[in-house]
Order: sequence, then structure tokens, then C-alpha cells
Amino acid sequence: MPKVLIAGGAGFIGTHMTEYLLKRGWEVVSVDNFSTGKRENVERFRGDPRFTFHEMDITEAVPEGDYDYIINLASPASPQKYLSLPLDTMLVNSIGVKNLLDLAKRSGATFLLASTSEVYGDPLVHPQPETYWGNVNPVGPRSVYDEGKRFAEAITMAYHRYEGVPVRIARIFNTYGPYMDVADGRIISNFASQALLGKPLTIYGDGSQTRSFCYVSDMVEGLFRLLTYEGLDGEVVNLGNPEEWRVIDVAKLVVRLLGLEENFSFLPLPQDDPKRRKPDITKAKRLLGWEPKVPFEEGLRRTLKWYREVLNVG
Ligand SMILES: NC(=O)c1ccc[n+]([C@@H]2O[C@H](COP(=O)([O-])OP(=O)(O)OC[C@H]3O[C@@H](n4cnc5c(N)ncnc54)[C@H](O)[C@@H]3O)[C@@H](O)[C@H]2O)c1
Repeated sequence: MPKVLIAGGAGFIGTHMTEYLLKRGWEVVSVDNFSTGKRENVERFRGDPRFTFHEMDITEAVPEGDYDYIINLASPASPQKYLSLPLDTMLVNSIGVKNLLDLAKRSGATFLLASTSEVYGDPLVHPQPETYWGNVNPVGPRSVYDEGKRFAEAITMAYHRYEGVPVRIARIFNTYGPYMDVADGRIISNFASQALLGKPLTIYGDGSQTRSFCYVSDMVEGLFRLLTYEGLDGEVVNLGNPEEWRVIDVAKLVVRLLGLEENFSFLPLPQDDPKRRKPDITKAKRLLGWEPKVPFEEGLRRTLKWYREVLNVG
């Protein structure tokens, strides 16, 4: 069975990815420094003999070994987290990625980078295909993440072109589901925790900005296909759900699913906050035969159920 290293394995997507690959019988080595991930996310796999965990900062060291695949998920992901860890974010997306690429070269592994729709910045093209180069403010507050990920993509392609490392790049759009940290400041986690704790739901601007949300099991399936399908070295592929939702409508749906009264609090839009974000997934459909399967309302129900348990509310 293949052996995989998952960097950022204690995070939200990393936990689902670990679960998915262990179920397939893979040997999983996970590395994380718990900067935004959680210990309990790795504890749940401890009893599995095919699972190994290393607490390490990948900007300093990586777990040596022979791997068939390396999946790099390590990076703060939500604006709240990367704005509170600005330099760590830049270092994990530069030195951290380089350390993993060197390891991939040493062990002959295929390397998958988890990049982001944020490389498109506040897009002027809609929806965004992979060929769009983006509209990013290189010196704005969000640049620590946006430009960090753009550098991560650039160095990944350089190791492919000049060092012969087989690489694939996933541009992940908003993903949600169980294990998403209650306190990470993303739309779904904010709305879920605010609603369940009886607080007003915070909406930035008038809520007419749109987002698209991909349920995590769909994302993991897309990442798996991009990692393992033949002939995809050097490919950059958008993964996300193209169904567009206005933020205000998401708030209304959360409230409705929980059977609550509407209680919203409106705040100014943060700087450089994208107004619209929607993936063009034509390429993912063509190369991977992939598209999201879980309808938003269904995914949201499952996620709210999980938040209810985690927050310990009725
Ligand atoms: N969740 C989304 O909607 C989304 C959207 C676009 C891109 N992504 C990308 O997907 C990846 C995973 O996102 P997530 O939502 O699971 O985030 P997450 O914060 O839950 O997981 C990231 C993990 O990386 C770990 N990490 C950070 N720096 C590290 C370091 N220096 N050494 C070792 N481990 C380190 C964290 O502790 C955490 O466990 C990230 O790279 C993110 O940029 C996620």
C-alpha cells in the first residue's frame, strides 16, 4: 500500500484526509506543529498501526522517510488565523514548502500543494479559471497569505521544471464541514457558533458579497484524484463548489436550519475582502471526472450537528 506524508495533518482538511487514506489502507505519516490544528484531531488515529504522527514545525525539520506521496496542507487558512500569524504564514508557505519539496525529491514522491482561491485576490474575472492570474494587492494585509501561496505555487512549479519533482497544485475554494475550528473566523464556523450560542450573526458589509462552499468530503475526493491520477504532473486545478451563495442568504439558512429567529449584526467590510468568489471547475471535471456531490443544505445540516456536539448545546 502507498505511504503518504500529510503536512498539516492535525488541521481541518488534514483530519478528513487522514481518515480517508487510512480507510483505503494507506500508511499515513502526519506532521503538524499545532499552530492552528488540534491535538485531538490526531489522537483519534493513534490506535491505528498504519498511522504515525510527528510534532514538528516544517520550516525547521521534516520527518525523513521514503514516501510515495506528500500532501502539503500546512498553513494557517482562515483570514483571522493568518492575520494573527503573519510571519509564520509566509515562512510555512516558503521555507516549509521548500523543505517538503526537497523531501519529495529525495524520496521520489509525488507532491500535492494545497493552494487557494486567494491567489486570485479580488478577481476581475468571474468565475475564475486556472488561467486567470489574479488581482492581488502585494502589500495589503492579506498579502501574507495570498502572496505566500503564490510563492508556494511558484516554487512548486520550479521544483517540477528544474528538479524533476512530480507535482500537482490544488486551488482550494472555501471548504466547510465537521472538524473546522469553531474559532477560526470563517463564515460557516462564525455563523454556526454565533447562532448556537444565541449571539447575533456577524455580517460584513450588506451581505450581498458571494461565496461558494464545498463540503469537505467532496474536497477530499477531489484532492485524492488530483494526487493519484496518471499524467497530471505540473497541473494546477481549481477544486470547489461553483454554486454561489450571498453571505446574507447563508446566514438566513443557518438560522432556518436551527429553527431560530433572525438576529444579524452588520459590520464594515474588511480591507481587500473579495466581493465575489466562484470556481470554474471545468478543468477538474475534465481531468478528474470530479464535481461536488453534497448539496449545501445537506452539508450545512451535518456541520451544524457537529458544532452542536462540540459546543455542547442542546
Ligand atoms: N479550508 C478552506 O476553506 C481552505 C481554502 C483554501 C485553501 N485551503 C488550504 O488548505 C490547507 C488546509 O486548510 P485547513 O482548512 O485544513 O486549515 P487548518 O488551519 O485547519 O490546517 C492547517 C494545519 O497546518 C498546520 N501547520 C501550520 N503551520 C505549520 C508548520 N509550520 N509546521 C507544521 N504544521 C503547520 C496547522 O497546525 C494546522 O493543523 C491550507 O494550506 C489552506 O491554505 C483551505
